[in-house]
Amino acid sequence: MTSTATRPGRAAITARTLRTDRWWLPPLITVVGLGAWVTYATVRVFLHDDYWVEAYHYLTPFYSPCVTERCVEEAAHFGRFLPGWWIIPDAAMTLPFLLLFRLTCYYYRKAYYRAFWLSPPACAVPDGHRRYTGETRFPLIFQNVHRYAFYAAAIISVINTYDAALAQATGLGLGNVILWVNVIMLWAYTLSCHSCRHIAGGRLKHFSKHPIRYRFWTFVSALNVRHMQLAWITLGTLALTDFYIMALAAGWFSDLRIIN
Ligand code: FES
Repeated sequence: MTSTATRPGRAAITARTLRTDRWWLPPLITVVGLGAWVTYATVRVFLHDDYWVEAYHYLTPFYSPCVTERCVEEAAHFGRFLPGWWIIPDAAMTLPFLLLFRLTCYYYRKAYYRAFWLSPPACAVPDGHRRYTGETRFPLIFQNVHRYAFYAAAIISVINTYDAALAQATGLGLGNVILWVNVIMLWAYTLSCHSCRHIAGGRLKHFSKHPIRYRFWTFVSALNVRHMQLAWITLGTLALTDFYIMALAAGWFSDLRIIN
């Protein structure tokens, strides 16, 4: 398949693009933002340290659930059944699914296809590649597993909620507030997923015969229009939650306590 910009029948325009606005700015912001986040997350995941605050039972989402032999016993809510090799993340049971969920997300696909693949970098700007095969063959055909990754992500959101509830038993501090804000935003992002919207209201002929699904679909649809924003907000809340817990665990400062 040839790029649409060079297909026969297209106007013979020699300029690469006729756009005069700063069309390159959104892809550039995506490269910088996603690049910085992935670098931070990778360093944190393989640090294998400063992920648990014993006094308040704060566990960072990057290490939840902690399942390797290396994990602090109190932080290993689901057991320590994987070897503690450096290459194995302490949250090895969840991180691959979360990565799959985000990588195959319809919004992130748009973002990284444009920013990293340049396929195409923007509307009315030709592809950075001569050939265009879309998601019709290996490896991108695997983007279709997104609907299954959604189920895994929903289970992981339950685990994050469980972590926040466990920490709540120790009182109330700024760490609890940060954990809950992160959990609420993660649920909003997960439920705003296009696959979730299809599960809620897809394949129905008459909404009137399925009032509960209709209500859920209406709720999900309202979130769905903010999916891009939620995708970025959750990157922020995840990094902030992890950083705050790391700082407490490392002793850089103390938790601001509201109720002890
Ligand atoms: Fe983005 Fe499903 S479409 S998480």
